[in-house]
Amino acid sequence: MTIALALTTIIFIALVYFILKADKVYVHALKLNEEFEKNDLTEEEVEEKIHIAQRTRGWLFFAAGLALAGMLISLYYLLQGTPYEGHMKEWMNLLVRLVHITFGIAWIGASFYFVLLENSLNRKKDLRDELAGNLWAVHGGGFYYIEKYKLAPKIIPRDLHWFKYEAYFTWLSGFILLCVVYYFNAKGFLIDPTVLDITPAQGIAIGIGSLAIGLLIYEVLVRTPLVDNSVLFAIIGFIILTGFAYFYTQVFNSRAAYIHFGALLGTIMAANVFLGIIPAQKALVKAAKKGTPLDPSLAKNAGRRSLHNNYFTLPVLFVMISNHFPSTFGNEYNWAILAGISLSTAIFKHYLNLVEKKQHEFWILPVAVFIMLSLTFVTAPKVSNGKCDKVPFSTVYSIINERCVSCHSSSPTDDVWTSPPNGVVYDTPQDIANLSEKIMQRVVITKNMPQNNKTGMLPEERELIRCWINQGSSIEDTE
Ligand code: HEC
Repeated sequence: MTIALALTTIIFIALVYFILKADKVYVHALKLNEEFEKNDLTEEEVEEKIHIAQRTRGWLFFAAGLALAGMLISLYYLLQGTPYEGHMKEWMNLLVRLVHITFGIAWIGASFYFVLLENSLNRKKDLRDELAGNLWAVHGGGFYYIEKYKLAPKIIPRDLHWFKYEAYFTWLSGFILLCVVYYFNAKGFLIDPTVLDITPAQGIAIGIGSLAIGLLIYEVLVRTPLVDNSVLFAIIGFIILTGFAYFYTQVFNSRAAYIHFGALLGTIMAANVFLGIIPAQKALVKAAKKGTPLDPSLAKNAGRRSLHNNYFTLPVLFVMISNHFPSTFGNEYNWAILAGISLSTAIFKHYLNLVEKKQHEFWILPVAVFIMLSLTFVTAPKVSNGKCDKVPFSTVYSIINERCVSCHSSSPTDDVWTSPPNGVVYDTPQDIANLSEKIMQRVVITKNMPQNNKTGMLPEERELIRCWINQGSSIEDTE
């Protein structure tokens, strides 16, 4: 306890230090940039200094990220088992999630914007020789004129904006979120003993290991000539990813399975930036500065990775919100549904990209829509139409008391859920009647409540609940 407290405090101080220091380095670099004529330094020397400052700042931010992760983990151990555990987890979840979606929006927004730019460039009319294209745009009341160089300008400007922290911090916060939601509570959310009975440590190892293996497969494939054939690459990539979707649903709780699929895509996306795009850009800048010939394959490969990321965005966005949709992850063939939604959304993105290029392929949009509609069709509940005798509320009340309130009550008795999940309680008959629509969804249609069927609900009981709800969810007979 004291050790954890000391550790938390030390890490917190380190975190504040890293952030302040990074800020200082930044201000220093800005000053150098502004006052460089006043110093008796050559342009190269100033550039070198700015470069060092920027790199130091990058590492400091990275250290701050690690310190934040360390702080969350030590805080977790500090408060584990105390009455504040649930509260702490909720706030960690909230803060990390907010950071994650904020960086994610910035990253995906930039991805959409630059792919749009690339697709809609004027490449023909009135171009200077060194340009690949240009674009006029109006936004927020301002008019913008953007030019894209064929490879790089003759002189690389000192103030060059790099897009990378969006990607790095989205990944980092996503990974922390994965820990906060699924790994810190592996028993409750990661593992489903009815799917595969593994220990939390095994589950976490499989989770992290699979991300590494998936990334490795992609990094190998993207270096083979296969990548030149984009259709074949997409087909093979899709088959492999479907394999991962299947694998995840065979080892994890179904929501955790979906999230891991998204985490794998996100990991590949961040690695595309870290291992592919940024190194290529660095090499280009270096060559341009030295005046050595630029290698066009660098730009081409970086562009390709960036485009792969663009196709991953919609599937990842779906996974981010998938937890709200039990008819997807709760389906018997949840892995196929996940693959189908990913395919449909990626095809839809392809359609948008073509529209931006002013190209028209008549079949693309209908195929995307067709896949999505088929999915709504195959996931439709198989409603049992069995005849119902009148079910008195007292029967339902005792079923709910026996099967649900160990978790869903204002003071749960469950060993894992010490506060009511999602705030849902069934303490009074009115509580039950108010939530009957959701009960129908989770108990009768998708059958994913009780969680992992921990309380051993019987099919006959689900049928009784269905009948009671179909008969109007009346709580009359208790009065
Ligand atoms: C072992 C603990 C546990 C038991 C028992 C349990 N649940 Fe849940 N329930 C959860 C957890 C955890 C969540 C939140 C995660 C989720 O939505 O799957 C949840 C969520 C729900 C939700 C969604 C609430 C929302 O607003 O999204 C409903 C509805 C629900 N449970 C109904 C039931 C019913 C009805 C029963 C009894 C037949 C039941 N649960 C039994 C743990 C449990």
